[in-house]
Amino acid sequence: MKKILLVFGTRPEAIKMCPLVNELKSRHGIETLVCVTGQHREMLRQVLDAFGVEPDYDLEVMTPGQTLFDLTGRVLEGMKKVLEEVRPDVVLVHGDTTTTFASALAAFYLGISVGHVEAGLRTYNVRSPYPEEFNRQAVGSIADYNFAPTALARDNLLREGKPPQSIYVTGNTAIDALGTTVINDFEHPELAWAQGSRLVILTAHRRENWGQPLHNIFRAVRRVVEEFPDVKVLYPIHLNPLVRQAAQEELSGCDRVRIIPPLDVIAFHNFLARSYMILTDSGGIQEEAPSLGKPVLVLRDVTERPEGVKAGTLRVIGTREDVIYREFKTLLTDETLYNNMSRAQNPYGDGLASHRIADILTKGRTTV
Ligand code: UD1
Ligand code: UDP
Repeated sequence: MKKILLVFGTRPEAIKMCPLVNELKSRHGIETLVCVTGQHREMLRQVLDAFGVEPDYDLEVMTPGQTLFDLTGRVLEGMKKVLEEVRPDVVLVHGDTTTTFASALAAFYLGISVGHVEAGLRTYNVRSPYPEEFNRQAVGSIADYNFAPTALARDNLLREGKPPQSIYVTGNTAIDALGTTVINDFEHPELAWAQGSRLVILTAHRRENWGQPLHNIFRAVRRVVEEFPDVKVLYPIHLNPLVRQAAQEELSGCDRVRIIPPLDVIAFHNFLARSYMILTDSGGIQEEAPSLGKPVLVLRDVTERPEGVKAGTLRVIGTREDVIYREFKTLLTDETLYNNMSRAQNPYGDGLASHRIADILTKGRTTV
């Protein structure tokens, strides 16, 4: 029987891999196993619980304030042991994290096939997103199966010389997840707090934004909120202490900005669906917002997800305080711009990505 091992470790990978885990487990004739590295601990557990996935292996690598060296070394070592024990036919990894890179490398060293879910996204700038662009390209050079979410991602891989027969356009499993989480009658105390105001969701955590860029973001947000009494901001903050400290320094005492613990994915998607707009440096949220019709100001210099920019939902505005201040204000006051950016479109998939990937792995082709 064919054995498939899915490996993931952070919140966003889990959100996009759990629908695939559940799809593969529903198929006959294959054995599906899950290994989490535990690169994230609490934030990963929130997702596993939401999707009812219980891992077969947990490397528990997370330490507070971990470095890329700690992580890469521990995941590589830990995966060696799991792969030697399980000996899967295929290892599936997702996206661009250190878990992704080090797990794919471990499989490669042991001569095990690698399937890359969410393959082919590129900025072609290895310093942004950092180190994710490198991770994604490195896994791309190892992978035997490339599950590209969009035609644009496929074209990147083809241009790089990947064999066409290794590339499948499947849609993004993020959209599969979104199809199961947004509900009509969702309620939450924080949403009650924001009722009657324009609710802005803020998230920021990226490594390349640590330090001054984070301070710029928070200062700009504070200035705008102080000028607009009808705007409230909810910031479900990443558990990284560096990010939390910067946010505390810049945002404390501003009573229309609330910093709250990370939301579980069901709550978070429902918050997005009820928001007026989003400010974020996240990757995954850039995929989710277009299908919810929510304008996003992307707090980065470049994006590997240009489909949402082309669709009109995303604007990449960088991390300068004056630019964020200006663009945030413009979106709050320019109704035409707001309406144009709010049209629900979905360049990232139709909710059947997991089905297609499972088909390809089990039948060699997809039926949808
Ligand atoms: C990682 C990924 C990034 C992804 C992000 C998603 C890498 C290099 N980075 O970055 O691509 O966008 O996850 O969120 O792989 N922490 C906790 N509990 C948790 C999670 C994190 O306490 O559940 C704290 C720990 O102190 C940890 C720190 O956050 O050391 C940083 O976590 P880490 O995974 O190294 O980096 P992220 O910025 O989360
Ligand atoms: N998310 C969540 N709870 C939160 C914030 C984000 O469940 O409090 C989800 C969000 O919907 C998206 C994913 O986490 O699917 C994005 O994760 P993150 O921003 O940490 O990582 P990135 O996508 O930037 O790699």
